[in-house]
Amino acid sequence: MRMPLIAGNWKMFKTRSAAAEFAAAFLQNYTASDVEVAILAPFTNLADLVQAFKSSGVKIGAQNMHFADEGAYTGEISPLMLKDLNIDYCIIGHSERRQHFAETDEVVNQKLKAAFRHGINPILCVGEVRSERETGQASAVVTSQLNKALTDIKAREAAGLTVAYEPVWAIGTGLTATPEQAGEMCAVIRQILIDLYGEETADQIRILYGGSVKPDNATELLNQYEIDGALVGGASLDPVNFLNIVQF
Ligand code: 13P
Repeated sequence: MRMPLIAGNWKMFKTRSAAAEFAAAFLQNYTASDVEVAILAPFTNLADLVQAFKSSGVKIGAQNMHFADEGAYTGEISPLMLKDLNIDYCIIGHSERRQHFAETDEVVNQKLKAAFRHGINPILCVGEVRSERETGQASAVVTSQLNKALTDIKAREAAGLTVAYEPVWAIGTGLTATPEQAGEMCAVIRQILIDLYGEETADQIRILYGGSVKPDNATELLNQYEIDGALVGGASLDPVNFLNIVQF
């Protein structure tokens, strides 16, 4: 049985003082349950958050990393540096990185390999844009993204993977995929994982849905058979909203 994961992606929001306020407010009302919780924060907040959430069971993660251990890559952060902070997760291949920072499937593949090499649990994001959904290509796009991202990644490593299905047209737009649309695509993803790695490994991989998840739609989405959790953007910035989703 896969433990659900609710992960908040703060994107480029919150100064250190705002992150500290969030931590205090969240922890006041949070009790650990059989739902895993993670906060994926800007680099500048990671060390503070690891400390603040230390004994709570809440996991901390980054939103991106370079694939090299070190080198002349001005402005980048390496997996070694992240591992040194004791973080657990890193988002890889978020659509905003693909769109604004020209991240290709090949780069995503290198980053995934680097994450596994360093024992950082990657949350791999895949998802189609609106025109691709409207022209019936959503499954083909997600299938291609997934196959390219997982090239040369072995079953032993893939067992530690989390996949997030985030239809790009549902991110930050208030448009949510219907539970059926989200559930269907997560089932497509599960089948690809079975084809690549076999039932036993595929069974261990969590598949999350992301895209305008809010307290009032979380339960319905999370009740879908193949959805093992949520990757929450905007609604994870507010401790009350995020707690409501965590307690879906
Ligand atoms: P929103 O929840 O703000 O739509 O963002 C989703 C997302 O991109 C999470 O990674």
